[in-house]
Amino acid sequence: MTVNFPKWTNQLPTMAALAVLSGGLFVVLTVWYFFSPKFTDVGYSPTQPIAYSHKLHAGLMGMDCRYCHGAVELGPHAGVPATEVCMNCHKTVRTESPEIQKLTAAHEAGLPVRWKKVHLLPDYAFFNHAAHVQAGVGCASCHGRIDQMEEVRQDQPLSMGWCLECHRAPENALRPSDRVTEMGYEHDAALALRLKQEKNINPPTHCSACHR
Ligand code: HEC
Ligand code: HEC
Ligand code: HEC
Ligand code: HEC
Ligand code: HEC
Repeated sequence: MTVNFPKWTNQLPTMAALAVLSGGLFVVLTVWYFFSPKFTDVGYSPTQPIAYSHKLHAGLMGMDCRYCHGAVELGPHAGVPATEVCMNCHKTVRTESPEIQKLTAAHEAGLPVRWKKVHLLPDYAFFNHAAHVQAGVGCASCHGRIDQMEEVRQDQPLSMGWCLECHRAPENALRPSDRVTEMGYEHDAALALRLKQEKNINPPTHCSACHR
């Protein structure tokens, strides 16, 4: 007596091989996607849960970056503002707007707005905002003209080569540290060189500075 397998089972070895292949491919692609800098590439600009505009608040209204990113001078992370910061104004401003109603709903529920991260370094690379801001590197050197962006997008590659390029010649980026948030700042080469010498600025290029 012969067992009659359905006809499609003839395809099984091919299907198994394909599954293994695409499974392997899947792993490779996943690894490549998450561990390569492409995950956050230049131009990356995810759609945010609320249509908040830097162009309006930081550009037109001229709000200082530190009103919302105060932690930037103090430690490694600049952070994103709590809903309370927005509610300072939006308790009364534009309350009829659907976007502001999303904000108010989050605030009343005691939940943070789930902003999507735009800039992200891999865990194995160490970065500290305060060290850069205190040395006099402007936000715009690394984030571009945020005050002109309706939606934040990544402006610089954030690759190792990019970090090192500035670390080898910081005089191309230095300015007085009280002007780091100024967006239209014009580079002054003589002043930058003087600041570098006066403050003895010497960014590290040895591996363990960034890979701890
Ligand atoms: C009124 C508050 C407010 C002000 C002022 C403000 N920001 Fe933001 N910023 C936000 C919020 C909210 C987000 C998260 C949503 C988004 O990405 O648009 C954000 C996101 C960012 C991001 C991207 C964060 C990430 O996920 O990688 C950068 C960079 C940034 N801001 C820089 C600046 C700079 C530079 C200034 C000053 C020119 C500034 N911001 C002024 C509220 C503010
Ligand atoms: C200093 C006051 C102030 C703060 C703080 C502030 N905003 Fe605003 N926001 C305004 C003003 C003023 C407008 C423009 C209102 C208009 O169009 O007349 C506005 C407009 C908006 C709009 C557009 C609303 C629409 O539909 O037209 C959104 C969305 C918004 N803000 C989100 C936020 C978020 C999110 C935060 C916190 C990260 C924030 N704002 C912090 C003053 C503020
Ligand atoms: C030397 C380059 C550099 C400078 C200068 C710089 N940033 Fe950043 N910023 C980065 C990098 C790199 C990240 C991603 C950090 C990570 O993934 O750990 C980042 C992330 C951020 C984020 C996302 C939240 C966080 O803390 O990860 C915000 C907001 C931000 N920066 C705002 C600012 C503001 C405001 C200034 C100026 C006061 C500034 N940055 C100056 C390189 C810089
Ligand atoms: C535009 C210039 C510039 C860029 C881009 C830049 N840095 Fe720096 N970095 C500096 C300066 C200036 C200092 C301060 C050196 C000093 O005070 O002597 C510094 C200091 C540091 C330090 C030592 C301070 C500390 O916190 O231990 C580390 C680590 C560092 N940077 C990591 C990075 C990484 C990682 C990147 C890329 C993601 C980067 N930097 C991109 C200019 C830059
Ligand atoms: C100024 C900071 C800095 C220094 C110094 C530095 N790196 Fe990196 N390195 C980074 C950053 C940031 C990344 C992540 C780059 C990315 O995501 O594109 C990285 C990534 C890497 C990677 C992962 C592969 C790659 O290219 O993305 C290796 C390996 C590496 N670094 C080794 C080293 C070695 C070895 C040294 C010393 C000769 C060194 N790094 C010095 C910042 C630094």
